Amino acid sequence: MKQPPVELDQLRSIVGAANVLEGGDAAPLLTDWRNKFHGEAIAVVRPGSADEVAQVVQWCATHDVVVVTQGGNTGLSGGSVPVDTRTALVLSLTRMNQIESVDAEGWTMTVQAGVTIEAMQDAAAAAGRLFAPDWGARGTATIGGAIATDAGGNNVVRYGNLRDQVMGLEAVLADGQVWNGLRALRKDSSGYDLKQLFVGSEGTLGVITRAVVKLHPATPHERSAFAALTDLDSLMALFAMARDTVGEALLAFELVPEVGVQKVCDTFDLVHPMANRSEFYVLCKLASGRPVDDDLTNFLTSAAEAGLITDAIVASTAEQESRLWKIREELPPTGLYEHQALGLKMDTAVPIERMGEYHDAVRAIAAEVVPGALAYGFGHVGDGNLHMMVLPVTDDQVEPFLERRDELIARIDAATFDLDGTLSAEHGVGRDLRTRVEPQKSPIEWELMRTIKRALDPDGRFNPGVLLPSE
Ligand code: FAD
Ligand code: LAC
Ligand code: ZN
Repeated sequence: MKQPPVELDQLRSIVGAANVLEGGDAAPLLTDWRNKFHGEAIAVVRPGSADEVAQVVQWCATHDVVVVTQGGNTGLSGGSVPVDTRTALVLSLTRMNQIESVDAEGWTMTVQAGVTIEAMQDAAAAAGRLFAPDWGARGTATIGGAIATDAGGNNVVRYGNLRDQVMGLEAVLADGQVWNGLRALRKDSSGYDLKQLFVGSEGTLGVITRAVVKLHPATPHERSAFAALTDLDSLMALFAMARDTVGEALLAFELVPEVGVQKVCDTFDLVHPMANRSEFYVLCKLASGRPVDDDLTNFLTSAAEAGLITDAIVASTAEQESRLWKIREELPPTGLYEHQALGLKMDTAVPIERMGEYHDAVRAIAAEVVPGALAYGFGHVGDGNLHMMVLPVTDDQVEPFLERRDELIARIDAATFDLDGTLSAEHGVGRDLRTRVEPQKSPIEWELMRTIKRALDPDGRFNPGVLLPSE
């Protein structure tokens, strides 16, 4: 821990002594989810209201301390922990976990920034409505973090990402003012859309303290299917067929590779769901206010007749359904392989019809640069978003892998840019990608972003070292 520049008593009087964590109490919040970034801070401070956030931000300005805002610390780009030369304070918003109102008639919900995605889903369901965003970290990830990263997840193909859900925001600005933009208007063309500036800003422009989000009609009829792809070339035709056959009811369309299924089943002692194995599967889910079973059967039958899939199972019980989704949700880079943390995790999106090209390019580059390393892809292919992993699997692969890691990254990134893709579809830039992402945008675009950053945060108080490439 860095020594505090001054006594922390003033902070204790703002948020209460129990909410200023130091030493061992603070340590878990100074390492990111992937155990890749480790930081130092004078304290982790847990405010209970926007007013307390504002006072803490003012304290930081007075003492020249930088503010690293943190929600559930499930981010996968390293933006939620302080790794910087300047003295930092982590502002953890998990105490701000009140659902303030659920407006079923107005189809909105107003929440504090530290509410988890799962709590929002549950509150919406209790009111007969749906809060659409969903992904594996739902029980820990907060709405503030989700908005700050413009998170995506499994249901984007139907509902869009976080950007599409946010109607209004409240944020604490660098000078300690509280901006209340908590509007619940479906239409508002009265000037710049300031709330959208904060979406995807990764804690670099201010601290999101509250949000108004959209609710959608509940979907009591849901059904998932797991289908064995004939080959990867069939993927886009299958997706087009799904959209044509089931239309609006298509909630999720995820690619799952056999190598991942096998690993998850071995790790968690699960029975492999498929009798007939294939190199790739699609896990899709239909959801609607009307029954979806006929639509799902028609889709799978047409797909089999067209030769796009070789086998399929439909989850007939809630238990089967959750087992299929567990297999999918255990694929992220958190513990399946011993050397996972040394490997690469990609969050690429490319124009959807070029996804097969991207997948094959990464596999080919990996085979050439780090022969023997494992390369596999999974994820939200209905959105053109593929998470490719490249990692060493045996001890003797580690050293050669690390020696050529930079070359591997450079070649994969170049392939992404050649395909007009993005390095960050839903996890944000964080610390991980800030150098790598630079060639993705023109100097004009970066300068526009820096102009916004300078205007809102002239002293660089919020999350230095995150998102924007160095000047
Ligand atoms: P943190 O990790 O705490 O913070 C993330 C970033 O947001 C940081 O830069 C932080 O400074 C900033 N931030 C946090 N709160 C605020 C705030 N109130 N105001 C301003 N800035 C703030 N992501 C997806 O998009 N799709 C997925 O499918 C997906 N699956 C995942 C599965 C697993 C198992 C895990 C561990 C993560 C997954 N994620 C996924 C990533 C992660 O859950 C999301 O990025 C999520 O949005 C992070 O929320 P958080 O509250 O944990 O934020
Ligand atoms: C997922 C995370 C890695 O899709 O975004 O599981
Ligand atoms: Zn994802």
